[in-house]
Amino acid sequence: MTEQSIQQIETSFNLLAPRGEELVQRFYGLLFARNPQVRGMFPEDLTHQKKKLLASIVLVVQNIRTPEKLMQPLREMGARHAGYGVQNAHYAIVRDTLLEVMGEMAGPAWNTNLAHTWTEALNTVATIMQEGAAAATKRGPVSTAAGSR
Ligand code: HEM
Repeated sequence: MTEQSIQQIETSFNLLAPRGEELVQRFYGLLFARNPQVRGMFPEDLTHQKKKLLASIVLVVQNIRTPEKLMQPLREMGARHAGYGVQNAHYAIVRDTLLEVMGEMAGPAWNTNLAHTWTEALNTVATIMQEGAAAATKRGPVSTAAGSR
């Protein structure tokens, strides 16, 4: 990612972060309105879910200058998502919903260039998560036992 792209992500997210709760609220509202088929994957009560989603976006933005720190957590998160029943095709739905909500909330501060940069960033996150999911699927479900010998 270029320095310009990094700054675009940081600046735009700093604008939205104080309204983080509204962001995730609107995100799930729009996600389920447009894609009712994914509602069943999520718990009924989304309170914790909303906080975790926001925290994960904050983590990505905060570490955007040291992306190597994000690899392991994102791969692990992707592996957990495979366990929730998430498939690769779902990532575009989540990405586009997030972009739409950010665009609505940022108002005049949003533009096609910013949308493009965020698309690139979210695609990168999705690819790493999908790699983690694929590796976990090959290995089999993560065992909680220390090793059964
Ligand atoms: C940018 C990509 C995504 C990010 C950053 C993200 C973030 C998160 C986080 C932080 C959690 C909390 C649990 C955990 O860490 O494992 C979570 C849970 C979950 N996510 Fe995602 N997610 C993404 C993509 C998706 C996609 C594409 C779907 C499919 C529609 C999805 C569905 C779910 C479900 C079903 C749960 C678990 C609910 C539960 O049983 O508690 N996520 N997500």
